[in-house]
Amino acid sequence: MTSETKASRVLLAFLLVGAAAAAGGPDDAVARRTMEEFAGFPAFDGGEGPSTAFRVDSEGLQRQIDELASFSDSPAPSVTRVLYSDKDVQARRYIKGIMNQLGLAVREDAVGNIFGRWEGSEAVLGAVGTGSHVDAIPFSGKYDGVVGVLGALEAISLLKRSGFQPKRSLDVIMFTSEEPTRFGISCLGSRLMAGIEELAQSLTKVVDNQNVSFLDAAESAGYKMHPEDLQSVFLKKDSYSAFIELHIEQGPILEKEGIPIGIVTAIAAPASITVEFEGNGGHAGAVLMPARNDAGLAAAELALAVEKHVLESGSIDTVGTVGILQLHPGAINSIPSKSHLEIDVRDIDEKRRNDVIEKIRRSATEISKNRGVVLSEFKIINQDPPALSDKSVVEAMEFAAKQLNLEYKKMISRAYHDSLFMARVSPMGMIFIPCYKGYSHKPEEYASPEDMANGVKVLALTMAKLSLE
Ligand code: GLV
Ligand code: MN
Ligand code: MN
Repeated sequence: MTSETKASRVLLAFLLVGAAAAAGGPDDAVARRTMEEFAGFPAFDGGEGPSTAFRVDSEGLQRQIDELASFSDSPAPSVTRVLYSDKDVQARRYIKGIMNQLGLAVREDAVGNIFGRWEGSEAVLGAVGTGSHVDAIPFSGKYDGVVGVLGALEAISLLKRSGFQPKRSLDVIMFTSEEPTRFGISCLGSRLMAGIEELAQSLTKVVDNQNVSFLDAAESAGYKMHPEDLQSVFLKKDSYSAFIELHIEQGPILEKEGIPIGIVTAIAAPASITVEFEGNGGHAGAVLMPARNDAGLAAAELALAVEKHVLESGSIDTVGTVGILQLHPGAINSIPSKSHLEIDVRDIDEKRRNDVIEKIRRSATEISKNRGVVLSEFKIINQDPPALSDKSVVEAMEFAAKQLNLEYKKMISRAYHDSLFMARVSPMGMIFIPCYKGYSHKPEEYASPEDMANGVKVLALTMAKLSLE
């Protein structure tokens, strides 16, 4: 062990004893003993430990969250920040500004995943990564993803203020487009980082609903690239020894049970499908009912079939949503000649989720026959397997929560996150904090400063511990 690493271990021991004391946790002697066991040598080298230093700057964090929320294409309290829009570019500049202020080395890859690195004393080792996203679906709130980026930067700042020196480098990542809003591809940045070749191919062709290509949209945001640059986003093997994402729960469990920390053991398997029906359309007054083949009614029938098949699974864990249903030409006095649906299906059980998708496919075919419309598209955009958290990361998170004297609950994430893809290239774990009434993806989304501070502290200690391993 180098003397620098040894010094950092002593500092971490200081930190953890201080954290326990600051949290009003077990008495100092017990915490010190625990830490000495962990560090492998005395926690106190005769000096005074920074027992009160482990404090999150909650006011500063809230101010940053509010500032970031002002980069929005919809009025407050809602937030709308879509990939490569002007507001997204402003948010990116804001995040890079904080990374620079913290003295992190900032790098961006071809699609705009942003990395802020605090170099460790053994920089050749795989880094410990953390991070999340700051893009926001239309009319959502200001905490989804943002807590995992700004909170991670506060965790780094906290470790720096506490005098910690990492052995493995610590990276804060702001992932590009976790939300599928613009190009229909969820977790675009992390999916690409995970090295999915088909995605690199399809990104050279995909367009948004205004027919703007991904490559043109990226260029307008300052990311001009050649198609072959997309592969450069793939992460090299062993880039990360661990990845931990801090996120609001987006569900009601932690708040209801009064538990401050969730430790995620698995992320449910998401899938998304696009469907299109085409009929003859026509005049709403002149075409009599027997002569119609209404693409809108086919879509309505399929939406109800999605609900039916999901409920037939018999499990509360199977969920399905038709979040987009568009009719063409969209006039009150015109029979819809085209309809477009986007369907989201998820389950913690991958096979059960896939069975539902198959039933939806069969229903779409039957409906098109019965109604005399053409099923012009049934496309599975993604059908991802679930991801499991890594035992070593879960243990580190549990250790940190215990050290902080914070009650925690092991739980499943029903929402997807960039961690779903980071799990393919790194041992992964996630920390959840409660959110008001479980609200998310709507303007009422809220997490209290106290809950965010707890999450930041657990994240900081987890990263510190993993950085020294
Ligand atoms: C993430 O935004 C999700 O839809 O789970
Ligand atoms: Mn989201
Ligand atoms: Mn999110």
